[in-house]
Amino acid sequence: MMDLRTVLFLALVCIHVQEMAADTNDRDCENFEVMLKAPNFVADAALKALTRDWGNLPNSWTGVDPCGSRWEGVTCSDSRVITITLSSMNLTGELTGDLASLSELEILDLSSNKGLTGSLPSNIGQLSKLTTLILYNCDFSGSIPDSVGSLKQLVHLSLYSNRFIGPVPASIGDLKNLYWLDLSNNQLTGSIPVSNGTAPGLDLLVKTKHFHFGMNQLSGPIPPGLFRPDMVLIHVLFDNNNLTGSIPSTLGLVKTLETVRFDRNQLSGPLPTNLNNLTNCNELVLSNNAFTDFIPDLTGMNNLNRLDMSNNSFSPSDGIPPWFSTLQSLTTVMMERTELEGELPAKFFSFPQLETVVMRNNRLNGTLEFGNSYSRQLQLIDLHNNSIESVKVSAGYKFTLMLADNPFCRGIGANLPYCSNQEQPGSMDTSPELCVPLPCSSDQISSPKCKCAFPYTGTFILRAPSFSLLGGQIHIAKLKLSLEQTLPNLALPVDSVLLTDAYEDNHGYLNMPLAIFPSRQNHFNRTGMFSLAFVLSNQTYKPPEEFGPYIFIANSYTHFGGKKNSSRTGLIVGAAVGCSLLFLLLLSAAGYAYRQKKRVEKAKHQGNPFESWDSHGVGGDIPALKGARFFTFEELQICTNNFSEGNSIGSGGYGKVYKGFLADGQIIAIKRSQEGSLQGSREFKNEIELLSRVHHKNLVNLVGFCFDQGEQMLVYEFIPNGTLMDCLSGNLILSQEGLGFSWIGNEE
Ligand SMILES: *[C@@H]1O[C@H](CO)[C@@H](O)[C@H](O)[C@H]1NC(C)=O
Ligand SMILES: *[C@@H]1O[C@H](CO)[C@@H](O)[C@H](O)[C@H]1NC(C)=O
Ligand SMILES: *[C@@H]1O[C@H](CO)[C@@H](O)[C@H](O)[C@H]1NC(C)=O
Ligand SMILES: *[C@@H]1O[C@H](CO)[C@@H](O)[C@H](O)[C@H]1NC(C)=O
Ligand SMILES: *[C@@H]1O[C@H](CO)[C@@H](O)[C@H](O)[C@H]1NC(C)=O
Ligand SMILES: *[C@@H]1O[C@H](CO)[C@@H](O)[C@H](O)[C@H]1NC(C)=O
Ligand SMILES: *[C@@H]1O[C@H](CO)[C@@H](O)[C@H](O)[C@H]1NC(C)=O
Ligand SMILES: *[C@@H]1O[C@H](CO)[C@@H](O)[C@H](O)[C@H]1NC(C)=O
Ligand SMILES: *[C@@H]1O[C@H](CO)[C@@H](O)[C@H](O)[C@H]1NC(C)=O
Repeated sequence: MMDLRTVLFLALVCIHVQEMAADTNDRDCENFEVMLKAPNFVADAALKALTRDWGNLPNSWTGVDPCGSRWEGVTCSDSRVITITLSSMNLTGELTGDLASLSELEILDLSSNKGLTGSLPSNIGQLSKLTTLILYNCDFSGSIPDSVGSLKQLVHLSLYSNRFIGPVPASIGDLKNLYWLDLSNNQLTGSIPVSNGTAPGLDLLVKTKHFHFGMNQLSGPIPPGLFRPDMVLIHVLFDNNNLTGSIPSTLGLVKTLETVRFDRNQLSGPLPTNLNNLTNCNELVLSNNAFTDFIPDLTGMNNLNRLDMSNNSFSPSDGIPPWFSTLQSLTTVMMERTELEGELPAKFFSFPQLETVVMRNNRLNGTLEFGNSYSRQLQLIDLHNNSIESVKVSAGYKFTLMLADNPFCRGIGANLPYCSNQEQPGSMDTSPELCVPLPCSSDQISSPKCKCAFPYTGTFILRAPSFSLLGGQIHIAKLKLSLEQTLPNLALPVDSVLLTDAYEDNHGYLNMPLAIFPSRQNHFNRTGMFSLAFVLSNQTYKPPEEFGPYIFIANSYTHFGGKKNSSRTGLIVGAAVGCSLLFLLLLSAAGYAYRQKKRVEKAKHQGNPFESWDSHGVGGDIPALKGARFFTFEELQICTNNFSEGNSIGSGGYGKVYKGFLADGQIIAIKRSQEGSLQGSREFKNEIELLSRVHHKNLVNLVGFCFDQGEQMLVYEFIPNGTLMDCLSGNLILSQEGLGFSWIGNEE
């Protein structure tokens, strides 16, 4: 595009020159061209100098002119380098002072290159046109130079997850156009800078919507001057630092706030009483500090989805605060060890979106009553170690209820399932596979549409989702749908996405391994990958509202399958992709491992699966199967020739798929989960029920299942390969029976 413009421009110049001088020939034209381009050699030389010692640069980076010869990841305007986007390609090297010569540079995205090291050169401040500086998930170190304050056009500054040390430069307060400020997950120390008449500070950032400072070692008090009524902040994240003192009441002045996290600091004193002025707030997370006195009245916070006040030093509440029953939007209430006393009203459980309530280690007493109108979204009620004396819950309840160490459980309730010391469910199942995966060559992955490809992979990290992990499935389904619709609309060659098991890490962040599959080809080319990476790193893609601020930590993507690659490169690329796939699998496995281990053990010990479904408190109902039948392990063993390799028709992270023949001659495909991919019996039951209910021309019909001898297998109608690929498109089902979005199948 730019090249074309340059060529046209030169052509016009040539024509013009020809018109003016009758004796002009082609040679003059060429000379003129060289002359016109001369100043740009400086800029080009700068890019060459900057990247001279870098490793793993794109193959296309040859020739003298980055603009003329179409270097991938570089765009130009008037032969000057305007953008450099080289995310997640395993670049190695350092940023040198040569950077400053790229004086027209507007966008620099080098995110997710863990091989980029060294400190930021202080003359970075000379990039006066820079709007976007994205250097997250690299390995930069040293302090953040004060000169970043000179980047007056800067809109987006993201240094998340490097090894920066030293203070937050006060000069950042000079960035009057800044919209996104993310310095989290570094080793920054010192206090939060605010202006004082002579020196600038963060309070001057009146256009900034995002303050992301979590996971550093910031200390000292939160200056009251940090928050002003003319600010437009929506996300204020100071979690996982070392802040002391109290939360200033000025926080209540920033009415635009949607997410507030000050958890995991050493904050103390009473909470400001005007927090409820934050009527747009969705997430208020103040847990794991040392706040005292009473929890303030939060009446009016009608948009509050997630409230976490756990592990503080509040005074005994002397009854349940009345405002507790007024926050209609709550999905997640975490009030562990908050000195709550009194009887929880049944009304509290009737908030329509309520999913998770954790109020362990309090003094809730009297009768625990759910009434008839409790939220159908309920997933977990953890009231471990309270003073509850009686319980009224209808027989068909479907959520996990934990009441161990309550007087009720020491007495008459002792043998009830919810009185046993259950583990909190650890991660959420997302099972985005509907089709029988095809066998893929060792380094490819079967996409949700069962095409083998090299996906762009990484972890989607949510720092303040408004939903809870356990109620997450429907939200994850929404995210998948949103990604699959939005990315192609942004002209990206994306076919489908796979979101595997989400889990919460110990910083309170929700982690979701994500794989994005290419359309058209089985891999992304470099340009496609850079564009995709930038759409995620620049936050051009906005997820549905409940996801809050996200960050995408990408794995290196090196499979470009270009024809230019020598066989040697091919080998290296293959190995690299193998590694990143292995990493993806390990990530998923880590999310699963703990929980699955327990489940496998459980599954192995059970004779009758339905009994175990009973003891899980699912309600004791056997799966409502529509036309699907139960197979014993032996039956399937026989019909697959003892699961012989010859009968294997595909495999994936979950296990293998076998072809088999039933006694009546029907050909079937058996999906056999391997250890480590077994689901809980409740999930397995849900899956079977769903699959047996769904009949659609684009879906493979479920013939039956086997849940026997610790095995979980799904038996499908067999469809010959070609048809299989073609028919099995789409994997979200909007059920006619009002189930909403549901995952079907069992992947990773
Ligand atoms: C403002 O802060 C700067 C840097 O922290 C300090 O050097 C200066 O003395 C302060 N000025 C006033 C008036 O407090
Ligand atoms: C946090 O502050 C305390 C004292 O206030 C100090 O002992 C501790 O080392 C600090 N932790 C970190 C990680 O800086
Ligand atoms: C909180 O809001 C109320 C009513 O909207 C207002 O009267 C009060 O001044 C506000 N408080 C603060 C500290 O902004
Ligand atoms: C409360 O503290 C305990 C013990 O430190 C910890 O295990 C638990 O996860 C904390 N709860 C929350 C909700 O942060
Ligand atoms: C429950 O706790 C409240 C508040 O501490 C107290 O007033 C009430 O008497 C207790 N109820 C029972 C049944 O113990
Ligand atoms: C049980 O809860 C009380 C607060 O009601 C707390 O003091 C105690 O430490 C908790 N017990 C355990 C074992 O966590
Ligand atoms: C790279 O992929 C993009 C997007 O699919 C496509 O438009 C472009 O033509 C491809 N480039 C090459 C060199 O194949
Ligand atoms: C970067 O993202 C912002 C929104 O976060 C968007 O307005 C802007 O256009 C994006 N930049 C580019 C170059 O796409
Ligand atoms: C990244 O590059 C280094 C060498 O620069 C190489 O050893 C490593 O295997 C590469 N990793 C990937 C995932 O390509």
